[in-house]
Amino acid sequence: MPNIRDIVQQMPKAELHIHIEGSLEPELIFALAQRNGVALAYPSVEALRAAYAFSDLQSFLDIYYAGASVLLTEQDFYDMTAAYLARAHADQVRHAEIFFDPQTHTARGVPFASVVNGIWRACQEGPISASLIMCFLRHLPEEEAIATLEEALPYRDKLIGVGLDSSELGHPPEKFARVFERCRQLGLHLVAHAGEEGPPAYIETALDLLNVERIDHGVRCLEDGALTQRLAQEHIALTVCPLSNIKLRVFGDMGQHNLLALLDAGLVATVNSDDPAYFGGYMNANFLAVAEALPLSVQQAYRLAHNSFSASFLDAGAKQGFIDELDHYFATL
Ligand code: HPA
Ligand code: ZN
Repeated sequence: MPNIRDIVQQMPKAELHIHIEGSLEPELIFALAQRNGVALAYPSVEALRAAYAFSDLQSFLDIYYAGASVLLTEQDFYDMTAAYLARAHADQVRHAEIFFDPQTHTARGVPFASVVNGIWRACQEGPISASLIMCFLRHLPEEEAIATLEEALPYRDKLIGVGLDSSELGHPPEKFARVFERCRQLGLHLVAHAGEEGPPAYIETALDLLNVERIDHGVRCLEDGALTQRLAQEHIALTVCPLSNIKLRVFGDMGQHNLLALLDAGLVATVNSDDPAYFGGYMNANFLAVAEALPLSVQQAYRLAHNSFSASFLDAGAKQGFIDELDHYFATL
């Protein structure tokens, strides 16, 4: 039997929490800056990478939005997405549900069409299955989220769902109850970041007031026993991002991460990369970091991969196809 490090790398998996702007590597930031004549505040790739030392979510977001400023044309969005999909494919990711932040770009005068069409075109070309989740920036007013949804209506068929990201503290889910209700009526899937830096109460209001189907991060749920029980009973998946949680100091080190405790509590936890260019790696780097710091069993590795497919927004047939492949992989170990 191969060791756990080999297993987590080779097993088929889905990624359900990846911000495509967070996959922009420093090398591509510099290449796009040059192509587009955008000035950067850093003299070199190395200097930019050296700035990736974060103390909390906001200190990351400031650099993340600065990095995204080099994205101007449809081709830029295509190139960024194609690079991510190739990288995910190498990590045995079969399917990705990709977040994008249109407001980060439309606020700089980039047409909404360039953003969606570039990302979409790369997803159509493979090499893996991919679908798109449009995120609203929670530090901005709900009116701007509603205006963004209106801009997105002609592209409704290119979106599988909507999400909520950016600065969590002070921007509770209820701020976006009306726009999420409109999205629900449009038949979009609903997710939200909650319980990353924010309290367990934000997880509860995301469920009750936004009607989300998955919680992004959600690791702080264990502070509330009743909430934990509810998440388990209702099979609400958590898209956990281990390396992100360490870089943004949600946990002191990986040995203190609660991923296995979430599984032990019966929760549908998954492993994801969040912003892989900023947090030290893609899917397999996250799985490896977990396997090295925590006593991850083969059974738990299987459970994490199974959860990633079962909690996806794929149709039942596609889910079953990937789960059959996963079962075959584990049966032949
Ligand atoms: N949290 C909130 N907003 C984000 C994140 C995150 O981890 N990554 C990109 N936008
Ligand atoms: Zn995230």
